[in-house]
Amino acid sequence: MAGEPDPREIEARVRRSEPLAGYEPWRTPDGRSPQADLERSTAKVDVFRGGNRSGKTKSGSVKTSRRALNQDPFRTFDTVQKLWVVCRNWEMLGGYLWPAIKEYIPDRYIAGSSWLRRSPPEIPLSIKLHNGNEIAFKSADASPDKFAGDKIDFAWVDEEIPGAIMQEVRARLIDKDGDLLVTFTPVRSLQWLRDLEREPGTAVFRASTIDNPYLPQAAVQAYAASLSDAARRRRLAGEYGQAEGLVYPQIGVEHFLEERAGSLVDDRGVNRYPWPLPPSWRRVAAIDFGYVNPFVFLLGALDPDQRLILYQCLYGSSRRITEWAAILKDEISAAPSRVWPIWSDHDAGERAELDFAGVPTEAAKKDIVQGIERVHDRLHIQGDGRPRVYFCMPALRPLVDEAELYQYPEQITGRTKDIPIDKDNHALDALRYAVMGLDGGPPAGIGLLIAGAGDRGGFGFD
Ligand SMILES: Nc1ncnc2c1ncn2[C@@H]1O[C@H](COP(=O)(O)OP(=O)(O)OP(=O)(O)O)[C@@H](O)[C@H]1O
Ligand SMILES: [Mg+2]
Repeated sequence: MAGEPDPREIEARVRRSEPLAGYEPWRTPDGRSPQADLERSTAKVDVFRGGNRSGKTKSGSVKTSRRALNQDPFRTFDTVQKLWVVCRNWEMLGGYLWPAIKEYIPDRYIAGSSWLRRSPPEIPLSIKLHNGNEIAFKSADASPDKFAGDKIDFAWVDEEIPGAIMQEVRARLIDKDGDLLVTFTPVRSLQWLRDLEREPGTAVFRASTIDNPYLPQAAVQAYAASLSDAARRRRLAGEYGQAEGLVYPQIGVEHFLEERAGSLVDDRGVNRYPWPLPPSWRRVAAIDFGYVNPFVFLLGALDPDQRLILYQCLYGSSRRITEWAAILKDEISAAPSRVWPIWSDHDAGERAELDFAGVPTEAAKKDIVQGIERVHDRLHIQGDGRPRVYFCMPALRPLVDEAELYQYPEQITGRTKDIPIDKDNHALDALRYAVMGLDGGPPAGIGLLIAGAGDRGGFGFD
């Protein structure tokens, strides 16, 4: 008969059967593992920047629960740890962040808890462990004063949160010289995150969706195929896009053409097209309705490489649709070839008026997120040094002026995250309709499978 079982041996055996012990970071076939690198890191600030579904939340919850349970194989802590888990909103916390952490913190470790919501999906406020450590949960859409007061040892921030909230979080870390982990996909390209990466004490780990072997490869491929180039760089590779805030910050002189002595000339003085443009080139147009806001009509031609050259922009408010109908009728009659399609905003009454006046339109594809990405693709300067959309100046000045104002909201809350403020976007919406008309979109539904909670807010689509 064996003697009394050694409690430490029992504890070790129990731990070996727990989910945290079963966790393995993913690796690429050639042995790279940003997840493993992050686990080993003892930097003051860790930044794990990855594509959608690349394993950001997994890594963050492992690092956080190891520290909370004092089971980190790379570090031990001899003081009681106060940890914060910060995410964008409570829905995301309840929807995927808490489940990810809970998986690694079995009930037997939990001494007490408080809840924002007890029924599923449960939303914790804090979890106190038998070892004295505590995890508090914070939502970035709460007011900044909800972040005041505490002195904390560690904060994990999952996904982009407003810079003002981040400042509060970092202030809480000062007293205990605590550690910070941020895991995110750079959907918004926030400046504070770029700055954080450049700080001397920061270790940066990069993960790509494609490398995560736990994802069904066919779904990843389908998702990749549904994305524009710009979106692929952000959402799969986790690369930064353009500057913070503006929706179309890249619109600039490279996209402008000016008429000079019978030619359209670009900003480097190169003659790009004859002017007027050849009558045989296809004409297309787009309309954004407005009465109080500006009504916009954009007219363009497609060159033989299908570049879109926008050369006319009618822009104005306080005119009834019947007036516009007459103006547009003249405009399209004066065009050297049939203007078709004329992609239009959806107001059925206004479209019927235009149709009646001899200006038939086609309903535009209005998905904002996808439309913006497609416009980005057209704006992108290609290998030949040219974009795939040009704006003739000064006619397109109203559009360019809008581009300097049209922006995303500062506060990021769940599902509105990818949606800009609905202002200064009249000519830009017409541009989006034209580009979506030309470049279309993938059939609805593709991408649902793996489009991450990380950038969708986890709850449905707009
Ligand atoms: N090391 C791992 N072991 C097992 N599964 C993993 C691992 N890393 C990631 N996964 C799985 O891959 C999927 C994506 O991981 P996770 O949710 O952590 O990614 P994410 O980058 O946070 O995604 P999102 O963009 O949706 O926020 C999940 O099903 C997760 O369980
Ligand atoms: Mg995630």
